[in-house]
Amino acid sequence: MSKLLVTGGAGFIGSNFVRYWRAAYPDDLVIVLDALTYAGNRANVADLEGSDKFLFVQGNILDQTLVEDLLRRYEIDTLVHFAAESHVDRSILGPDAFIETNIVGSHCLLKATRQVWLEEWTGKRTVRFHHVSTDEVYGTLGPEDPPFTETTPYAPNSPYAASKASSDHLVRAYMETYGLPVTISNCSNNYGPYHFPEKLIPLVITNILDDRPLPVYGDGLQIRDWLYVEDHCRGIDLILKSDRVGECFNIGGNNEWANIDIVRLICELMNEAMQDEIYREAFPKALSAQRGEAERLIAFVTDRPGHDRRYAIDATKTKMILGFMPKESFATGIRKTIQWYLANETWWRDVQTGEYRQWIATQYDI
Ligand code: NAD
Ligand code: DAU
Repeated sequence: MSKLLVTGGAGFIGSNFVRYWRAAYPDDLVIVLDALTYAGNRANVADLEGSDKFLFVQGNILDQTLVEDLLRRYEIDTLVHFAAESHVDRSILGPDAFIETNIVGSHCLLKATRQVWLEEWTGKRTVRFHHVSTDEVYGTLGPEDPPFTETTPYAPNSPYAASKASSDHLVRAYMETYGLPVTISNCSNNYGPYHFPEKLIPLVITNILDDRPLPVYGDGLQIRDWLYVEDHCRGIDLILKSDRVGECFNIGGNNEWANIDIVRLICELMNEAMQDEIYREAFPKALSAQRGEAERLIAFVTDRPGHDRRYAIDATKTKMILGFMPKESFATGIRKTIQWYLANETWWRDVQTGEYRQWIATQYDI
């Protein structure tokens, strides 16, 4: 039986992870530590609350005393670190929060675990610090380049990517210097339920439902490697259960798409969905999709500065050592995701607060 502290567990991937973990290991204690920034939402884990195996703590990873207290009080043996500022566009407009949370915050967690696990428990218990990172630390690829492996040199291009790279280095340094038992995963773009609607896929789905423009940056030919969020969670599970302490693992979908093709695919699927009378009634504003013309909402806008052209993950190591393979195909995953947004309008309307509207309004010239 494990006792997990999951930072950022009220965000997109973190909340999917705790739900995944609850189903896979019902006897484990799961504590979520989340500051509930604009991207965190307690409703994301509402279905897990009320159990004596789950606890939600609103707090900041920068609060080292709080983290140490949680580690001691609940005898935490596994820390899974998702908490971060995660949106590249926001890091371009305001990098400071990214430095604070992603670098200084991650360092606070490292200091807290070092203090409790290594100093107080003198390294006698089996513990693990798993750091959830991104493929963006590797920089960008040309069209013919081989995908990123775990040995690709780091070359981050956005303040977000640089802050994640920095935290990866700190995690590694705590292992090399102090012997903290760590693992790191570098994953490609996730999609699925609870994805905050400032990110491409949920933004496109929800904008179609409101008949708003679909902003495509630059020429739309940038490539991302998409992975269904539950597959990412399973990949982390495999890493946590393995004894490969001190190692990094790439996790990817083997599923490269140009942004414009993803947007067109979603338009097509939304056109289809809107032929159903139930959805026509539920989403009266979705007039373009109801007419079978969601593509007309596509608007090419100014490109993101420093926009990485292509990401692609080579997850051979994770496959060979841990047996990891994505289970969800993109064809089924994207349909499930659209169905989730159609069925959970209250969720995405609620997270589109005044702050969200303000942010979106500063973004596009459309
Ligand atoms: P998200 O923005 O949806 O969620 C981040 C969560 O962290 C939120 O609940 C937020 O409230 C919380 N948080 C932020 N600052 C905090 C702080 N100082 N203290 C405590 N909690 C804080 O992010 P996500 O997309 O779920 O990403 C989770 C992690 O996975 C991040 O570390 C990200 O870098 C990494 N990642 C994301 C993707 C992706 O496609 N989304 C891919 C690879 C890796
Ligand atoms: O690769 C992993 C990363 O994926 C994670 O580390 C990040 O936390 C996560 O946000 C994601 O970063 P991206 O920048 O790739 O995701 P985003 O959804 O913001 O954008 C996906 C692509 O779509 C990217 O090339 C930019 C483009 N885009 C995005 C938005 C929001 C548009 O063309 N229009 C948009 O409105």
